[in-house]
Amino acid sequence: MQKSINTDKEDTLKDKSNESRAPWSLMRSTNLLASLVALLVGLYYATASAQQASPSSFPTKLPPQSVPADPQSFAVLGQNAPFRQSAFTQFLNPTNASPPFFQVFDPAFLDILGETPSIRVVASNPGFAFAHEAPIWLSSTNELFFASNDGGPLGFSNLTQNNQYAKINLTEVEAAITASHSATSPLNVTVSKLDLPDTIQMTNGGTGPFRGALLLVNSGRGLLPPTLALVDPTNPRNTTVILDNYFGRQFNSLNDAKIHPKSGKIFFTDVTYGWLNQFRPLPLMPNQVYRFDPDTGVVRAVADGFDRPNGIAFSEDGQTAYIADTGSSRGFLGNNQTEPATVYAFDVDPKSQAFLNRRVFAYVDTGVPDGVQLDSKGNLYASCGDGVHVWDSTGKLLGKFFLGTVSSNLVFAGKGHLMILAETNIFLAQIAATGFSVAFP
Ligand SMILES: *[C@@H]1O[C@H](CO)[C@@H](O)[C@H](O)[C@H]1NC(C)=O
Ligand SMILES: *[C@@H]1O[C@H](CO)[C@@H](O)[C@H](O)[C@H]1NC(C)=O
Ligand SMILES: *[C@@H]1O[C@H](CO)[C@@H](O)[C@H](O)[C@H]1NC(C)=O
Ligand SMILES: *[C@@H]1O[C@H](CO)[C@@H](O)[C@H](O)[C@H]1NC(C)=O
Ligand SMILES: *[C@@H]1O[C@H](CO)[C@@H](O)[C@H](O)[C@H]1NC(C)=O
Repeated sequence: MQKSINTDKEDTLKDKSNESRAPWSLMRSTNLLASLVALLVGLYYATASAQQASPSSFPTKLPPQSVPADPQSFAVLGQNAPFRQSAFTQFLNPTNASPPFFQVFDPAFLDILGETPSIRVVASNPGFAFAHEAPIWLSSTNELFFASNDGGPLGFSNLTQNNQYAKINLTEVEAAITASHSATSPLNVTVSKLDLPDTIQMTNGGTGPFRGALLLVNSGRGLLPPTLALVDPTNPRNTTVILDNYFGRQFNSLNDAKIHPKSGKIFFTDVTYGWLNQFRPLPLMPNQVYRFDPDTGVVRAVADGFDRPNGIAFSEDGQTAYIADTGSSRGFLGNNQTEPATVYAFDVDPKSQAFLNRRVFAYVDTGVPDGVQLDSKGNLYASCGDGVHVWDSTGKLLGKFFLGTVSSNLVFAGKGHLMILAETNIFLAQIAATGFSVAFP
């Protein structure tokens, strides 16, 4: 940063462009830099945006709860701009809108939102991160299942305490919406904890249902092994562990899974977050992606070379796989922004189902990409540091479901319903886009 020497030259500059330099001058005249940066970045970007002279094809009429974020409007911020230093605590919010809202980076996002989208909280507990990961939508009962934070902030789980798996009733949510007569006011439906057996330890991932059962990915706790398990949703005591080792060796701490939409094989990520969140021993295997055949018990690695492989998803045709690498988030070691915050795409080899032709699909600007899902048009949604980011199949950022806080996972729950887990809140976004089923018969 430039020293604050009051030269003649500088005064002249100030006089010339009062407006554009105002936020920067204000920033230099105060010592409360950290607390002001977010606000100033917003003001600065708004000013930069207003100064854009070039005509733009960016839509001027946006649906409710939407704000523009035309990339052209902040492509150049100027040499003295208050650039973001942190990908984790400073957000790009050019209009300074209050979350939650839809941030539109590309006109194609409007097709995803439709004409009357809405986003709101439907369950909330400010003191407990009850809604972290492992979201599963059970269409037969219209219920959403999810795990509390395992080993992290406000999770109340650790080496000696398991996390919880719970559910909400989306029919109850719909009734509350009808009764509220508002498209945005927060709701708070009842969260019901599942009574699971002790074979389930630190649930962090989930998908399905697989053959009618919830497929849970459990990180393990202490020396209790990480597992894949099937849980009967109507009788959770009826649970079957289907995998708990790799040829006799424990996994590090299993994180997330998806079922391959054509073959029904289970693909899952293994990563060191159990150790990084201090509830699992030192890792003894690489962080990698595996394929499990539940009918033969055969398990094998299909991709490695990651920093911290986390969320996983397939395209509807099963030909493309996506792995989110949350490398820059490192638990007790702290964040390191020079490590990946990147979604990689792969071709799924038709014969072996190994992941081939790894390429960068998207590097996220805020936080890390965690849980990932696709919609029926092939757009990819990832839970990130400021909400959910959406890209088209070529990797172009279309928009964000901007929450102003971290989201770790999400799932589609029927036509036009997107459920977003955000630790102490669950959001429902009612939009035009629809997911394809991640269940397997
Ligand atoms: C929602 O209800 C739960 C359970 O009664 C409660 O703990 C929580 O504080 C409520 N949330 C809000 C925002 O009041
Ligand atoms: C683990 O979490 C429980 C519940 O929050 C708490 O009572 C206990 O003190 C914690 N133990 C450790 C070792 O942090
Ligand atoms: C969900 O709520 C609706 C409306 O209250 C109720 O009719 C239904 O039985 C509930 N579903 C479950 C699985 O409890
Ligand atoms: C529930 O129990 C039945 C009978 O023992 C068993 O066949 C079935 O696999 C169990 N389901 C799960 C999900 O464990
Ligand atoms: C951050 O990561 C980079 C790349 O791996 C490494 O060189 C650097 O030492 C790390 N910094 C810290 C503080 O760990």
